[in-house]
Amino acid sequence: MSAPPVTVEVDTGLDSDSAYGDEISKYTASLTSTVLESRKENGRTYHGYPYYMPNDENEKERLDMMHELMLTMMGRKLFLSPIGSSPHRVLDLGTGTGMWAMEFADQFPSSEVIGIDLSPIQPSFVPPNVRFIIDDFDDTWVEKDLDFIHGRYLAGSSKDFAKLLRECYNNAAPGGWVEFQEWDTGLFSEDGSTDGTSIKQYYEILNSEFAKIGRVINTGPRLEGWMRDAGFKNIQVKKYLVPMGAWPKDKHLKTLGAWNFVEAESGFEAGVMAVLTRHAGWSKEEVDVLVAKTRNDAKNPAIHTLFNFYVVYGQKEE
Ligand SMILES: C[S@@+](CC[C@H](N)C(=O)[O-])C[C@H]1O[C@@H](n2cnc3c(N)ncnc32)[C@H](O)[C@@H]1O
Repeated sequence: MSAPPVTVEVDTGLDSDSAYGDEISKYTASLTSTVLESRKENGRTYHGYPYYMPNDENEKERLDMMHELMLTMMGRKLFLSPIGSSPHRVLDLGTGTGMWAMEFADQFPSSEVIGIDLSPIQPSFVPPNVRFIIDDFDDTWVEKDLDFIHGRYLAGSSKDFAKLLRECYNNAAPGGWVEFQEWDTGLFSEDGSTDGTSIKQYYEILNSEFAKIGRVINTGPRLEGWMRDAGFKNIQVKKYLVPMGAWPKDKHLKTLGAWNFVEAESGFEAGVMAVLTRHAGWSKEEVDVLVAKTRNDAKNPAIHTLFNFYVVYGQKEE
């Protein structure tokens, strides 16, 4: 990247002064250093905070593959909101490896992009108009007047999505846009080929176990309602079809399905290991069996698994 390097600053929430002056001050007084602690579990690394996906190298690679899948799905667009050509203050919630934030910053050099995440898994060399901060987006926000707020693939991340969308509304600039991009984790097939399969069972278990611990994993279909309740106007919903595996004849769907399968190779385990072993009494070996059977189904060209992916955006009143 040709841009000069910018050091990633890590805000643990321990100091009372923000490293980001008036623009970004800290989200939370309650966050402690535990957010930066990592823990080893079942051969993977997780951070200390109760989030249920790993944050190791393997997961970073998977998130970058997911990023490519999303861009392919959306015709190389990072977002659909009509934000104009010169958004200024932009926030990426749960930025992960920061790919979205960095590409957005490259496309809009006059913007100032902030990526927030619990895990310090972002690169050190970033465009000059990107900053990453480590904090919890579920806590009360203090910064205001954001022209564009983006959140992608945050399923299971927030303790309360309705509240998160209200925070987005409250902290967006008048006329600003908020866009979320999320999966529907209820799989389906058009020919009944997923009936009675392990992959179907996998997603049923995923949905029900996250529901039991009060975390919404099936976020896509609920985005529109949360946005309406938060007060957004001009809400638009776009649904994309994404297969699992390279079985479709259609070239575009085949490419999406192939990317989905590659990321799911490690994603199946990443999605359920923590929730099932921490809360549902499963052993690692039991999860390994479910994951292996699910992978086999994903690989099986006779099983035609499909998902919907939602992109939902809305505007704060002028
Ligand atoms: C599945 S990843 C998606 C990453 C990125 N948005 C993308 O699309 O590639 C979810 C990210 O949200 C972060 N996260 C989860 N809960 C969070 C919270 N309460 N506050 C800030 N970040 C959070 C995780 O650490 C993880 O990096």
